[in-house]
Amino acid sequence: MLLLSNHHRHRSSLLPLLRLLHHRHRSNQHFSTLSHPPLRPLDVPLSQPTYMIWSSNTSLGKTLVSTGLSSSFLLSASSSSTSLSLFPSKKFLYLKPIQTGFPSDSDSRFLFNKLSSLSLRRQARPSLSLSDSVIYSSVSAAKSVLSDKLQAQAKEFGSGMYNLNIREVNENSGGGEAVSELVCKTLFAWEEAVSPHLAAERESGVVGDSEVLEMLDKCLREGLKSDRERMEVLCVVETAGGVASPGPSGSLQCDLYRRVIVCRDSNSNFVIIMFSEEVRPFRFPGILIGDGRLGGISGTISAYESLKLRGYDVVAVVFEDHGLVNEVPLMSYLRNRVPVLVLPPIPQDSSNDLMEWFDASHNVFNSLKDIMLSAHSKRIQRLHDMAKRAGEVFWWPFTQHGLVPEETVTIIDSRCGENFSVYKGQDIESITQQFDACASWWTQGPDAALQVTLSQMTSFVIEILWFQTELARDMGYTAARFGHVMFPENVYEPALECAELLLDGVGKGWASRAYFSDNGSTAIEIALKMAFRKFSCDHGILLDFLNNNTAERVIKLKVLALKGSYHGDTLGAMEAQAPSSYTGFLQQPWYTGRGLFLDPPRVFMCNSKWDLSLPEWLHAKIVKLQDMIIHAAGGMHMIDPLFQRILVNECRNRKIPVIFDEVFTGFWRLGAETAADMLGCVPDIACFGKLLTGGVIPLAVTLATDAVFDSFVGDSKLKALLHGHSYSAHAMGCAAAAKSIKWFKDPQTNVNIISEQKLLRELWDLELVQQISSHPAIRRMVTLGTVCALELQAEGCNAGYGSLYASSLLRKLREDGVYMRPLGHVIYLMCGPCTSPELCRQLLIKLHRGLEDFNRVEEKVRAC
Ligand SMILES: Cc1ncc(COP(=O)(O)O)c(C=O)c1O
Repeated sequence: MLLLSNHHRHRSSLLPLLRLLHHRHRSNQHFSTLSHPPLRPLDVPLSQPTYMIWSSNTSLGKTLVSTGLSSSFLLSASSSSTSLSLFPSKKFLYLKPIQTGFPSDSDSRFLFNKLSSLSLRRQARPSLSLSDSVIYSSVSAAKSVLSDKLQAQAKEFGSGMYNLNIREVNENSGGGEAVSELVCKTLFAWEEAVSPHLAAERESGVVGDSEVLEMLDKCLREGLKSDRERMEVLCVVETAGGVASPGPSGSLQCDLYRRVIVCRDSNSNFVIIMFSEEVRPFRFPGILIGDGRLGGISGTISAYESLKLRGYDVVAVVFEDHGLVNEVPLMSYLRNRVPVLVLPPIPQDSSNDLMEWFDASHNVFNSLKDIMLSAHSKRIQRLHDMAKRAGEVFWWPFTQHGLVPEETVTIIDSRCGENFSVYKGQDIESITQQFDACASWWTQGPDAALQVTLSQMTSFVIEILWFQTELARDMGYTAARFGHVMFPENVYEPALECAELLLDGVGKGWASRAYFSDNGSTAIEIALKMAFRKFSCDHGILLDFLNNNTAERVIKLKVLALKGSYHGDTLGAMEAQAPSSYTGFLQQPWYTGRGLFLDPPRVFMCNSKWDLSLPEWLHAKIVKLQDMIIHAAGGMHMIDPLFQRILVNECRNRKIPVIFDEVFTGFWRLGAETAADMLGCVPDIACFGKLLTGGVIPLAVTLATDAVFDSFVGDSKLKALLHGHSYSAHAMGCAAAAKSIKWFKDPQTNVNIISEQKLLRELWDLELVQQISSHPAIRRMVTLGTVCALELQAEGCNAGYGSLYASSLLRKLREDGVYMRPLGHVIYLMCGPCTSPELCRQLLIKLHRGLEDFNRVEEKVRAC
């Protein structure tokens, strides 16, 4: 059987194809003009404990808890539970990103005033310096604050927000030398006491999520910066309303703070994701203010679940005692894993200054503060130890452990869209973002997916649907509904929907059956079994067998496959690939390589031009092919479909079943939904995996034609395909696949889709690609769809799969926020089908920068 794979794992030459894509016109720009100005450091500081204060609903006492925490932190002796207690003075940073009802309501001012009174009441030592500032407000809110001055200056802030920048300061000299600090900041305020999205719209002061995050980022940096040497710091970011209350743009707050920053592309009227460094989600751990009233258990649990579903950690739940003992069912629900604290009833009389209530709550706030500080130190300790522990307990695939020093282990705290959030422990602890340029072994599709609608009245209402959150929600639902259910002779919705979508999508026009498995290698083994049977049927072997005529004949079935291809690491899949580093004696002494392996023509870009390298055996006959490739070279058009297409046709003529291994290429990896679409011919059997589920959970599928299926049909069970895996057609995998298949091809959710052509638009900037392909460090380059691969100029032991030649380049790129993993001296950038071309352009710029440095060092080495 013919086994075609469009991915060659240990070579950079990808499928010899160029796409029928019109490259969008670009002006003749060069690196100097394309480069962004120097970027700010990328890190979210982790050195100081920073917590989000969430609430299951509005008016449950978030600000009272923030105030109580600040008093416990600033006005009592240092906690003995952390080493930070050695610091002589302290700082409590309170940030309120979104405030409505301003100026009559101001949570930051409330905290400022109350702490001032509490510090006097408790005769705080050391001295306390307090400040409260409000940075931006709507124009109407600003008018109430600065009515005289305002008229001339209103509208200074583009979105109708006014740069209010007011600050109130209070020095409470309690004696003693060291000065502790309370810093309160409201970032954006609106006048009406309604939901922020409504207030923002009514007061013409819509603020995008990116603006909120940018400002929060700035305030955190300023607030946490220089203080670590001399101060013990605790920071809280208090949200507005409930966990799922909308922010000013309409995004739910639980999504807003886990969101990547986006900006509007003024030319094309849709939203693009900004440069990877700008992507800075805040996955700070949280305190959830629950509801002690009737109905509060339900609201509190819902809020808790909403946070967990989005990957937030909640370290404690706190609520006001309403005499209903809500803590008992809550603690039982949380299985005592999250502490639940109960505050005394809050006096309702508005003339009550709450001083006595704060005194009565003092112990609860002390406990809460201790929980927060200790959870923080435990988190840091765990992150700090993880690399060492990993080296002791893991056996990593494709890894020579002796070559991985502890300091090079990447500690991934979480994933946000296309980025890893990586823990950095050197100097200052922080979480930094690295673009996952391996697409986590070529599986990834989730991005900060975008959907933009134009509001009738004003400019944009930006609705951002985050694919990762969507997938997580679907996974949660499916796990809750099905868990795992056995597949044979059963049907359930996710599996049925997924099979139907596959047959109507990647299998359209040829496949009629979907056979589910867990991973690419097993999908290949299933395909081989199918193909063996089909071949045996078509060539009378099966009939002979059934008639007991085979005793005399030795039947040796072989595959016809391409050299350099890779079909997985299980023993059967390995038999179908040509000898390589993976199949050699060191790896697999059983390997025989049961195939005829052809050397295919390979296509690449070098010095800005597409080129074709021909195997020896094709030289004499290839003139016609070469012509086609030269025609294609200028604009990413198709190259050489002939070689594989002719091979497929020849196999057909000889009744040899054809398998397409689309485990790597399927689902837009190369710019079309399948590589078969690009080849212009269809297989008898095809295998899919990796991007099939959007990269969230393992699943693979082998699709087959009716004719292949029919070769297994009969009266005896023994004639059926007796192959299966415990998790075949896993409901969560199928649900993720159904979502991803639809998501990737819908222009509403994937702005890269050129729907009329069923192709992705060009993602890699042609000029940059050409410049890189002309770089002296590069031997050849291929860009196709989501893949940009290049082979470094390397000779001798610097070349090949075992080479460490690219290590220094990749180290530099990781420092620059791009996580890559080499295939020897071949390196690649890989994005997802929804990644913005702008982001790809920035990746290319970084790659070029890295190559420049790499080349300089190499030249020095050569000169020595
Ligand atoms: C073309 C191709 N086929 C098969 C496989 C094996 O898939 P898996 O790793 O899921 O077993 C891979 C994996 O990289 C692949 O690239």
